[in-house]
Amino acid sequence: MPTPSSAAAPVRATTRDHVRIFDTTMRDGEQSPGAAMTLSEKVELAQTLDQMGVDVIEAGFPISSQGDFEAVRAVAGVVRNSVVCGLSRAGEKDISRAAEALKGAARFRIHTFISTSPIHMKHKLQMEPAAVLDAVTASVTHARGFTDDVEWSAEDATRTERDFLRRCVEAAIRAGATTINIPDTVGYSFPDEYRAIFEDLIANVPGADGVVFSAHCHNDLGLAVANSIAAVQGGARQIECAVNGLGERAGNAALEEIVMALRVRGDALGYATQIDSTRLMRASQMVSRITGFPVQYNKAIVGKNAFAHESGIHQDGMLKNAETYEIMRPEDVGQGSTSLVLGKLSGRAAFKDKLKSLGYELSENAFQDAFVRFKELADRKRHVYDDDISALVDDQIAHGQDAIQVRRLRVVAGTDGPQTAEIDLVVDGEEKWATARGNGPVDAIFNAIRVIAPHEASLELYQVHAVTEGTDAQAEVSVRLMEGGRAGVARAADADTLVASAKAYVGALNRLRAKQARGPDAQESAA
Ligand code: KIV
Ligand code: ZN
Repeated sequence: MPTPSSAAAPVRATTRDHVRIFDTTMRDGEQSPGAAMTLSEKVELAQTLDQMGVDVIEAGFPISSQGDFEAVRAVAGVVRNSVVCGLSRAGEKDISRAAEALKGAARFRIHTFISTSPIHMKHKLQMEPAAVLDAVTASVTHARGFTDDVEWSAEDATRTERDFLRRCVEAAIRAGATTINIPDTVGYSFPDEYRAIFEDLIANVPGADGVVFSAHCHNDLGLAVANSIAAVQGGARQIECAVNGLGERAGNAALEEIVMALRVRGDALGYATQIDSTRLMRASQMVSRITGFPVQYNKAIVGKNAFAHESGIHQDGMLKNAETYEIMRPEDVGQGSTSLVLGKLSGRAAFKDKLKSLGYELSENAFQDAFVRFKELADRKRHVYDDDISALVDDQIAHGQDAIQVRRLRVVAGTDGPQTAEIDLVVDGEEKWATARGNGPVDAIFNAIRVIAPHEASLELYQVHAVTEGTDAQAEVSVRLMEGGRAGVARAADADTLVASAKAYVGALNRLRAKQARGPDAQESAA
């Protein structure tokens, strides 16, 4: 018989004006095709979310694969302040597996769910409503055997008959659930409808005043953030969201948008989160780097253009008073103004200071490596901006430990072919050389890599962005490779676009190989 964890203090509705931020980037976010993260990437992201002040971090779905189990266990071991959460279906085996992965955490939550809508119960679960109701009680009771902090979710709640939803919520509360999540699983609701569900449940379900109600919105109609805010107006005090709005299909509500909507419109809502908003940009860039999903330029809060003013009238207004066209300041969300930061004469102290202000905490060795790379960049590039430094350090963090590394590249390109690449790679410590031709220089580089590291992976994405302005800007290249249903994604930056391309391709290959080495995953989709 499992014993309750004494360390697991539940997150309760102690203050009525505090909205808890429940981050599901590593669970629902990871369910986006091609967004799978490695264990070390999850650990890195979890630490960032923890420092940012996220209340609950959903680290994965432990029964879905050995890899997910290990990742949840690793995250549980490093997070200091946030509650670490693991997802499970309603079965005892699922719940026990989640508890096993989470038990090392300072504070943990088990999140168990079952579908409650007629369409899900009939076609997906093939269960009668009475059996679903019994499963609610049994699953929450079993989870409470491991911890006092249990969240129960009614999958597809917004398409569930209201009376049945009330009965399920009541059963979950009676069995000991401390958070009740009402997901808009298919992104179907309108804000007024979603708000009304919360108002109804909170007013009519016995015991509702002793638990925290939670919103979990998908973005199929582009309403995830609006619905989440409506849920808060209806009484929800937890919002489930993901950095950059990552998630199943069209994604989840974007964490950064939720946090800033609550903050900027505190006058209208009066609820606060405990998020340090100056870390939003960094988290967004990290998730983009890890998944290889670029952030659209006009994305609210963290997009490159979110604070750019192009028209003359706007620029004129901005120069007179920034509040004419800005409802928040770029620095509030960690968007550095494109200031000239350092030059080739800058020393270690200035560089260390800059890293700190950008939110990086590097070990001494990593700092020394970063400094050497910064000096090399400053030699090649006249102006080094904050974004250059971030790209450089992110690149080092992402690829510093890779088994295959790019050592040297020489390319023949131009109108008079054949385009040829000569590349030196270090593979598990051994230097290897190859040359190949291609249909253009990038193709030649990728062919040369394939000579040294043969593989069948197909190239699913090749994208180039300039990190800053100007012809000497660093290029940031994203590559996604697919083989046997697995994706390897990487991003790399360099002042030379072709070098960045080689590094990104090799990075993606490293990710793919790491996944293949972990063996087959019994991946099961949660929702
Ligand atoms: O969308 C959904 O219903 C979910 C649940 C598992 C919470 O992700
Ligand atoms: Zn979901």
